[in-house]
Amino acid sequence: MSVTHNLFFLSIFNFNVAKKFRDDEVLRYLELNHTYDDAMEFFEISRMTISRIKKRNKVKHMPEKIKVAIVGVGNAASALIQGIEYYKSRSNNVGLLHPTFAGYHISDIEIVSAIDISIKKVEKDLSEAISENDLELIAKVPRLNVKVQMGNILDGVIDQTRKLIAPAKIDSVNIVNELKMSGAEIVLCLLPSGADKAVKFYAEQSLQAECAFINTTPSPIAVDKNFARKFHDAGLPLIGDDLQDQFGATIVHKQILRQMIDQGVEIKESYALDVGGGAESLNTIHRSRGIKREIKSKSVKSSLNLKAPIVAGTSDYVPHMKNSRNSMLWIVGNGFLGSEIVLDLKIQTKDGPNGGAILADVIRATKIALHQGSSGAIDEISSYGFKNPPKGTISIETAQKNLANFVLGIKNQ
Ligand SMILES: NC(=O)c1ccc[n+]([C@@H]2O[C@H](COP(=O)([O-])OP(=O)(O)OC[C@H]3O[C@@H](n4cnc5c(N)ncnc54)[C@H](O)[C@@H]3O)[C@@H](O)[C@H]2O)c1
Repeated sequence: MSVTHNLFFLSIFNFNVAKKFRDDEVLRYLELNHTYDDAMEFFEISRMTISRIKKRNKVKHMPEKIKVAIVGVGNAASALIQGIEYYKSRSNNVGLLHPTFAGYHISDIEIVSAIDISIKKVEKDLSEAISENDLELIAKVPRLNVKVQMGNILDGVIDQTRKLIAPAKIDSVNIVNELKMSGAEIVLCLLPSGADKAVKFYAEQSLQAECAFINTTPSPIAVDKNFARKFHDAGLPLIGDDLQDQFGATIVHKQILRQMIDQGVEIKESYALDVGGGAESLNTIHRSRGIKREIKSKSVKSSLNLKAPIVAGTSDYVPHMKNSRNSMLWIVGNGFLGSEIVLDLKIQTKDGPNGGAILADVIRATKIALHQGSSGAIDEISSYGFKNPPKGTISIETAQKNLANFVLGIKNQ
């Protein structure tokens, strides 16, 4: 954890705890990758007191593995699986938001089950199945001994993606059984965007198997009050919807607009449009363009209180771009004397890896939610990692602070 983050967490503690503290506060502080020396200085206690607190609370040595089932072994799944291997050596943290988060390293994530429907992936070892995606293999992934199981196709395939996905003509396994037998505690839903029926189906299966559910797709699950209530009643966390990229058009668009507004520039109009390859771009264009555009535009606009016309979405599918994405940002504003300021910017990214760092944080935070016994739609995690969280978008700074407080077990005001 970086010095800035340490200072950030310290400032939260200084503000909330002062000189009084409870056992669980000391334990969470240690979980957040602080040393004994940090804790001694911060709480003004001795090493012996810390040891006593750990003994008193029968602290098992963290971290234990975080057992995840993946539904949809596509490009985003490939990036996450490669990331778990890539960062294992711990000597290279480039590209991670938090090398250690809430006491967990990214390599503490263990994929225990994988479900897909493509003939190119089903019944293969997960390490082989990921090579069937557009995203090239950057990390060496050893045999994982997780066989990709056949899922329930439902609306996972449309005419335009049938050739690319090539669905297998075999029966689905019993998903609840598969999840239970694998020991999964979290289901990570990485289905194609627009596959609403399939996403709902797997959310229900996740409930029955008593797993937390993370919905990276734009299908409305975490924002659905009915689903939130079901997960709440089952004592399980529900996180979503529509994963936020680490550094994509949405975040850049928001930050630049904010800076321009802070500098006194009046925004007149703006758009951010993407072109990309892969099945995900095809799905977006043919069935989720409307909802994606609504979510992205709302996400940019809502935290800035903007009245100017803003459009954010996907404009086309370019097959040879594969897992790459080009985002075009256009902003027009007025500065001093009404003089026109025009910003015309292009960002080139790789889709799968762009979701990896946030996924790693969100999975680790979900494990903490399970530890804490939090249930229902968890807004503190959703508004940090997703474009359409249940309570709406907030500023990045507030989302980061709320997540840090959540992990520390401090109630947000
Ligand atoms: N940076 C990112 O990667 C990012 C960012 C935001 C949102 N997301 C969301 O993550 C999701 C996954 O993105 P991706 O790029 O990996 O997509 P992808 O098209 O590469 O992968 C989807 C996978 O789902 C499988 N599938 C289809 N129907 C299925 C079913 N019924 N059951 C099981 N498997 C099924 C497909 O065979 C494929 O392997 C999308 O909904 C996308 O909107 C990703």
